[in-house]
Amino acid sequence: MLQGLARSLEKRLDETREIVNSFSDIPIRIITHNDADGISSGAVVHLALEREGFKVHTRCVKQLEEKIIVELADEKPEIIIFSDLGSGQLENIEKYLKKTEVIIIDHHEPQNTDFSGFQLNAHEHGIDGASEISGSGMAYLFARSLREENKNLAALAIVGAVGDLQDTNGKLLGVNRLIAREGVKDGILRIEKDLRIYGRQTRPLYKALEYTTDPFIPGLSGSESSSIVFLKELGIPIKKGEGFTMLADLNDNEKKLMANALVLKMVENNVPIKIAESIIGEVITLLREEKRTPLRDAREFATLLNSCGKNEKYGIGLAVAIGEREDLYTSSLDMLTQHREYIGYCYSWISKNIDKIIDSGNMYIIIAGKEINENIIGTIAGMILNSRTLPELKPVIALAETEEDEIKVSSRANRELVERGINLGKAMHYASEKVGGEGGGHNIAAGAKIKKGREKEFLEYVEEMIADQLGG
Ligand code: C5P
Ligand code: C5P
Ligand code: ZN
Repeated sequence: MLQGLARSLEKRLDETREIVNSFSDIPIRIITHNDADGISSGAVVHLALEREGFKVHTRCVKQLEEKIIVELADEKPEIIIFSDLGSGQLENIEKYLKKTEVIIIDHHEPQNTDFSGFQLNAHEHGIDGASEISGSGMAYLFARSLREENKNLAALAIVGAVGDLQDTNGKLLGVNRLIAREGVKDGILRIEKDLRIYGRQTRPLYKALEYTTDPFIPGLSGSESSSIVFLKELGIPIKKGEGFTMLADLNDNEKKLMANALVLKMVENNVPIKIAESIIGEVITLLREEKRTPLRDAREFATLLNSCGKNEKYGIGLAVAIGEREDLYTSSLDMLTQHREYIGYCYSWISKNIDKIIDSGNMYIIIAGKEINENIIGTIAGMILNSRTLPELKPVIALAETEEDEIKVSSRANRELVERGINLGKAMHYASEKVGGEGGGHNIAAGAKIKKGREKEFLEYVEEMIADQLGG
């Protein structure tokens, strides 16, 4: 067992192990989320159960909606393990999967309802699932309690946490930290203080700046030409010999110079100093991955998995997370390129349409229609919030139309807003339910799916709930 966990959680992990040990030799279905954390956690549960000798089948879903639970129930599976989702859908799981043995391994806030299945959830043990542990971290604790050797899955646990932006303040906290420390001790991870720019192992410095969005650097994030000018002004050459300058080529003085200039640039653009300073912080290297590949850096690994999920190539993402490094890994690199290009396109679309963003009082609303893919709308909402291009700090609620002509909603806040009382998970759940949709998530990031035509009403309910949260 990982040292330092709450007693109640240790006890729960013992109970989980007992249930798994009582399973007879029947195939186990794993249902997981399609983002980096979901893919990593699915891979951890998959590998752990295979090591116990079970046959497993793992599937990624965009969201665990009622429709999907009904479909699953039709297949009459004997055992389902939900990972990185499930706790927000306890009612429907209870309703439709009565005949299935269910284990939920999740870090989302659980629905407040009677549930007869088995739930291993961070919140039930006083752990904040938005900042202290990811779905992959929960999966890791599960795996770790089945078998000590599953400690070697620590890298995936951390990739999931970073994928869910749980290191946004520059370092991992809570149980994430305990897991990371164990990974360091076992020679799986290295944590060092450095510039937290994207792709520091693999990208030319100017590209790394362009691709950095956490923290968002107004003027540089998303802009290649400005990133080149920025480096030139600092006297840092773009090229070094035959190749481009990489972060690793800079000496300590140059890194310091660059860090100071980046912080200044952010602060001048209204980014709070604390967030700006998170440009320096912990960067995590996966020591068992090839050098100079995107898998060597936790953040880039997470983006690679996200890109497979967002392109709906779940199998590729899962295969890479499970350890495939041949053809599917090569395909995943193409996904990553496409994903970065698409994010660039979306960000520039938003920048051009900034005047269409509606200020409804307590929040900003972006109506993207079919201009932005439903799978990316959350990422873009987060970027808009963090880019500080909007005059005030308010939650951002973004709406995109799905291929099935429904409305996908993504909402994003930050620590400061959460401290003021905002809980987007509750707001999305409340407002979507009012209009016959489904929604939920974390205080800081949440989403919903509603029918087309109900947007206006839905947004009024969200506004009402947010006003209430701020007033209380
Ligand atoms: O479903 P799941 O929990 O994996 O998704 C969490 C989502 O919350 C991610 O999309 C992540 O980017 C977002 N998030 C955020 N800001 C934070 C923490 C999480 O936007 N500080
Ligand atoms: O989809 P998006 O990235 O905006 O989701 C943010 C968070 O809200 C995730 O944790 C996701 O699992 C959750 N969510 C939810 N129900 C939905 C949509 C999103 O619980 N219908
Ligand atoms: Zn997650």
